[in-house]
Amino acid sequence: MSTIKVHDKTFDIYLSEETIQQRVKELAAQINTDYAGKRPLFIAILNGSFMFAADLFKQLTVEAEICFIKLASYKGMKSSGNVVTSIGLEDDLFGKDVIIVEDIVDTGKTLHNFLPKLGHQQPRSLKIATLLHKSEATVFPLHPDYVGFDIPNKFVVGYGLDYDGLGRNLKEIYQVI
Ligand code: IMP
Repeated sequence: MSTIKVHDKTFDIYLSEETIQQRVKELAAQINTDYAGKRPLFIAILNGSFMFAADLFKQLTVEAEICFIKLASYKGMKSSGNVVTSIGLEDDLFGKDVIIVEDIVDTGKTLHNFLPKLGHQQPRSLKIATLLHKSEATVFPLHPDYVGFDIPNKFVVGYGLDYDGLGRNLKEIYQVI
């Protein structure tokens, strides 16, 4: 089906299952090359990245670890900016090659606020893999290292991404009309 309805909005097909899977394979191939002889730790940010993280992870041939975390942001008592805390990050990152896995980087705010926290743990390297990047919308300085698709600043659902809780199960990615 090329047009779908989620809640009150209508969406058109934007990226087919084949297109997504092909690109995920390409990203994994690049990571396999870049991390040859290393053992990267993937930190997948829930909820949206679960499908991308699973498909990407299956395509890896290098030894790799993965963990899943949730980010919660709140207004700091003293600072005016948002503070981001992570739930579920048990691994010690010291000396590790860390790859953050995101579904989408939009304004970049979430990762921009969260990355310094990881940096404090002194990983050997810290990179970002995101399936989607709305680079036109990115206002916080952030340069993802592995990008599946650079997309226009329009709302999308599917393949893990939701609109108000729904749409995550779709195998394709749909763009709002
Ligand atoms: P950022 O902090 O503005 O980069 O926002 C990142 C988060 O916003 C993502 O992890 C998503 O959960 C959510 N988000 C941004 N754009 C979309 C979209 O088009 N569809 C679904 N979720 C989105």
